[in-house]
Amino acid sequence: MPKGVDKNDVPGAQRYLPEDRGLSSLEHAAGGCRGCTLYRDATQTVFGHGKAEAPVMLVGEQPGDREDQEGQPFVGPAGRLLVRALSDADLDPALTYQTNAVKHFKFKRQGNRRIHQKPGRIEVVACQPWLIAEIQALRPQVIVCLGATAAQSLLGSTFRVTAHRGERLRLPAALDLEVEPEPLVMATVHPSSLLRDQSDRRQENYEAFVADLRGAADALPAMFRS
Ligand code: URA
Ligand code: SF4
Repeated sequence: MPKGVDKNDVPGAQRYLPEDRGLSSLEHAAGGCRGCTLYRDATQTVFGHGKAEAPVMLVGEQPGDREDQEGQPFVGPAGRLLVRALSDADLDPALTYQTNAVKHFKFKRQGNRRIHQKPGRIEVVACQPWLIAEIQALRPQVIVCLGATAAQSLLGSTFRVTAHRGERLRLPAALDLEVEPEPLVMATVHPSSLLRDQSDRRQENYEAFVADLRGAADALPAMFRS
């Protein structure tokens, strides 16, 4: 927060952040967030999940239909593909803390179905204080952005996953995170894009995703590697 700015004048999640910045206090406070309009139609806030000591933070887009109902990230079909890819990359899911750039499910109703809608820049920016606070609480060694929404939340709105996937990056200084050690950041595709992929490159695209996750695993200090 820039100096001289009153946090109560800033739209978004900032004003809902609790004084105590431990993960469980954050999760509790996020349950009452009204920093953008998405809380109105969603079932509940879906906060990050994983051990406070996890060295890898995986950042998705937003909870899906299942996550919205169960209150936990990556418990639906995209999460199943993610777990398979992590294991193919020799990255133990227990070493990961999983979260999303946006903590409420955005959807439109079509009959009985709820159809996923991509969160817009306003929602991504509104929700970013939770993600920043999670990074500061967790202090991960590596952050993996799964897809453009997560990557643009942390690396800027002009970031292109296709141009920079798999590269070892740092968070922009403008985020003013002040975390030690400074985490490495990498971006790759979103597992949902692989679920939707009907092309004849489906298997290659999956393998490229696994290779990116393996790159993240390789960036971990030796004490975390299997
Ligand atoms: N897709 C995401 O980006 N996050 C989830 O938690 C589930 C699906
Ligand atoms: Fe708050 Fe984020 Fe939910 Fe918007 S999406 S209400 S900013 S937790």
